[in-house]
Amino acid sequence: MRSTLVLAMTVDGKIADGDRSAAKFSSPQDFRHLEEQVAQADAVLIGAGTLRIHGTTMRVLDPDLIQARVQRGQTLQPIQIVCSRSGDLDPDLKFFRQPVPRWLLTTASIKRKEFDRVLQIGDGQNIDWQRAWLELANLGIDRLCILGGSEIVTALWEQDLVDEFHLTICPLIFGGSTAPTPCMGSGLAIPRQLELIETKSIGSEVYLYYRRITLSPKVLL
Ligand SMILES: NC(=O)c1ccc[n+]([C@@H]2O[C@H](COP(=O)([O-])OP(=O)(O)OC[C@H]3O[C@@H](n4cnc5c(N)ncnc54)[C@H](OP(=O)(O)O)[C@@H]3O)[C@@H](O)[C@H]2O)c1
Repeated sequence: MRSTLVLAMTVDGKIADGDRSAAKFSSPQDFRHLEEQVAQADAVLIGAGTLRIHGTTMRVLDPDLIQARVQRGQTLQPIQIVCSRSGDLDPDLKFFRQPVPRWLLTTASIKRKEFDRVLQIGDGQNIDWQRAWLELANLGIDRLCILGGSEIVTALWEQDLVDEFHLTICPLIFGGSTAPTPCMGSGLAIPRQLELIETKSIGSEVYLYYRRITLSPKVLL
């Protein structure tokens, strides 16, 4: 399974403001770029924190992108996989009325009728990401698009599970020591290395496309 992280970030390295508000700060072009990445995916991974704040997820709207999915033998919409320890998500969120397949990836033994599938993979506290990746691949997911937020993405960097990274630099400064960044936590003992594959600028935004350089598993231990 190939996993692709897609994030927008301010020039000072923040993916949201200090209040973690739902304010969208990238351009319509970046929205289109995000839609194109989502349209490539068999499934999309999103943290419960992001979903609670935004209320909806990114689905494919452009009929041409949907048509291309059908031609590739994919479902009309990628599966939206929500990551949550608690599974505590308001059933009135607009997300639950979006016409998309929904899975829940959780550590808790819970039943939620709003989800087509519940995957319980972990030790009660944390999702076992390595096992989750194997399970998702076994369930036929070849391309996974990771949409954030910060806590989920940090866990995935720590587990070395991000294969590609699309990063849009937006012409803003948020500041704030608590504003989330693309990798937080206590810091990676060994920095992850990336190779720059493509750069593009549109207006004042810069679009970067990186691929992770695979290091020997021994180096990452
Ligand atoms: N700029 C961008 O491209 C971009 C993209 C996405 C999000 N964002 C921003 O990021 C912010 C949200 O990020 P966030 O860090 O607060 O939330 P998040 O990463 O979206 O979700 C955090 C939640 O995920 C679950 N979770 C996290 N780690 C887990 C683990 N190891 N095992 C099981 N479940 C786990 C927990 O859910 P439960 O609490 O349900 O147990 C946790 O509360 C928002 O401000 C949003 O706007 C920005």
